[in-house]
Amino acid sequence: MDRVLVALPMFNDVLDRLREHFEVLTTPDGPPDALPPLAQRLHGCAGMLVAGAPRVDATLLAACPGLRAVCSMAVGFNNIDVEACTSHGVLVSNAPGVLTETTADFGFALMMAAARRICESEHYLRAGRWSDWRYDLFAGADVHGSTLGVLGMGRIGQAIARRGALGFGMRVIYHNRSRLEPAVEQALGARWVTKEELLRHCDHLVIVVPYSAQSHHLVGAAELALMKPTATLTNVARGGVVDDAALAEALRERRIAAAGLDVFEGEPAVHPALLTVPNVVLTPHIASASLPTRRAMANLAADNLIAALGRGAHAGRPPTALNPQVLAPP
Ligand code: GLV
Repeated sequence: MDRVLVALPMFNDVLDRLREHFEVLTTPDGPPDALPPLAQRLHGCAGMLVAGAPRVDATLLAACPGLRAVCSMAVGFNNIDVEACTSHGVLVSNAPGVLTETTADFGFALMMAAARRICESEHYLRAGRWSDWRYDLFAGADVHGSTLGVLGMGRIGQAIARRGALGFGMRVIYHNRSRLEPAVEQALGARWVTKEELLRHCDHLVIVVPYSAQSHHLVGAAELALMKPTATLTNVARGGVVDDAALAEALRERRIAAAGLDVFEGEPAVHPALLTVPNVVLTPHIASASLPTRRAMANLAADNLIAALGRGAHAGRPPTALNPQVLAPP
């Protein structure tokens, strides 16, 4: 029986599904530093179930020659070197689709919380500082009828655009390397603009681009300087797409009004300057965290692992493989 490592805490019923096909090693809870090195835990394993961590690269693959599949329950896969996996014959899968609407809900909520100063005002209330009603008490920016700027127009970007256009009467502009089909643009009421136009004209910027060497610090000091002082920025993509130090400075100097961040450079560490500015809502990478969605993500990763290792009804045909060519018959 093949052995697999589930390299993250996992739903019991998903572990039970995997146990129908494999000997399953789990990762005890605890700080990652206290665990034996990953290559050691992977010894003798044919597959591994992961999420946005750990890093899977050529060094790890060389140390684990028996590994045949790495299946992630995240949609973003910047922690996995797919090219290196392909050249080692290791199947890689991610979990697209199942988290789109849940993540879009959260991105929208974070944008609204930033625009309407919900967390900042709650902290004020909890601190016992609320003594009167004032016309300008935590007055923020309107969301309805404003201009939504979406940076990255994949599935999640489109779901956010739809919420803005149909639910809140927002004008939607977007920037993406490739333009959407005109019919899709029309259905979303979205207009493609250059990155510079996007930054200059949006009232609320929502960032949803995958992380890569090309998107590293896609929004830094120069880009923030183009934004309106009343604008908000929300990042539900990946840490590193935004230069967090430059953002903290722009927020502190009120060069933009507010931000909502679910992802951070070097997370779970958070840039200390972000912790000291009041006009930012900070959440611990939970945009896809509704229980039904997390369960769907985990089950999709399990489906991929079972199929990639030649088991179950879809043996040899993992549903969301990123490099299915490694399973192609010779
Ligand atoms: C979460 O960040 C994911 O990529 O699924």
